[in-house]
Amino acid sequence: MQEHIERIRADIAAGIEKVKDGTRQELFELKMKYLGKTGEISALSKGMRDVPAEQRPAMGKLVSEVRAWAEEQFDQTEALLKKKELEARYKSERIDVTMPARFAETGTLHPVNIVKKEIIECFEGMGFDIYEGPEIEKDYYNFQALNIPADHPARDMQDTFFITGEYLLRSQTSSGQIRVMENKKPPIKILSPGRVYRSDSDATHSPMFHQMEGLVVDKGITLCDLKGILDEFARRMFTKETKTRLRPSYFPFTEPSVEVDLSCHNCGGKGCRICKGTGWIEILGAGMVNRRVLENCGIDPDEYTGFAFGMGLERIAMIKYGINDMRYLFENDVRLLKQFKD
Ligand code: PHE
Repeated sequence: MQEHIERIRADIAAGIEKVKDGTRQELFELKMKYLGKTGEISALSKGMRDVPAEQRPAMGKLVSEVRAWAEEQFDQTEALLKKKELEARYKSERIDVTMPARFAETGTLHPVNIVKKEIIECFEGMGFDIYEGPEIEKDYYNFQALNIPADHPARDMQDTFFITGEYLLRSQTSSGQIRVMENKKPPIKILSPGRVYRSDSDATHSPMFHQMEGLVVDKGITLCDLKGILDEFARRMFTKETKTRLRPSYFPFTEPSVEVDLSCHNCGGKGCRICKGTGWIEILGAGMVNRRVLENCGIDPDEYTGFAFGMGLERIAMIKYGINDMRYLFENDVRLLKQFKD
């Protein structure tokens, strides 16, 4: 039996020497061959039964010695293989931080969308809700309810695309005013962005463009409220020093009506190329909601008053970014679009 033990010891030593360049799975299989339940060292323990009683203590000692030795051999080799594996992984997975990165091109928001987002943020901060109305609209909402009857000369202000006698592509987001007031009782405080269409095309007009409508209706609303809100808007959108100026104007759905100018953010009012030497830039139309319009929506004009304003988003973008031809905004040349980062 002693010989047998020595042979096992030699076999294990040779086996381990071989497996040192192998895998942990191979090591495990080798370990099982000797230390597993049916392994050779386990068999030695079982074989003790056949050893004469007087030799048992000495043999038992030898068996437990070889077992302890084998376990240590396997543990050491296991640790060695683990280390080797880790080193190999470190080598293969090493990150070369000096390698040039591959950049994915990221898109940017269109300048009109940047301006739209900024305006919405500005007015949302003042408690306005967003309402979006339909682009295919009824004559009633786009004109009649806004105090522009059929065949009225005021229709000439907006060269409209009619689809049928009754339906058209809305020429102004003011149509949304009616839709909101028909469905909601005051207080009303909404902002309505959207596309509008007019048969018009040159450096400052496009057949499709974007507007942003504002409407506030409540008890005791005055022109001063309009002025105050527009002042705040001007400061936030342009510079802290930007001022607003109201000039008398005409819209059938507001009375009185005003045209709103901003002091030129470029020259501060001294006069420059952007404001064409006047120190002021026209940015939107506005006014107090005409009492006829309130009546058309079932709101009592003796109880409630309101103001409305409407601005062209392309125009705001052109002013803000110094773009002098509106067509640039529709050509979508990436060399232009790349210059605007939100
Ligand atoms: N809808 C008008 C336009 O397109 C602008 C406007 C809106 C004027 C609201 C007054 C009040 O020209």
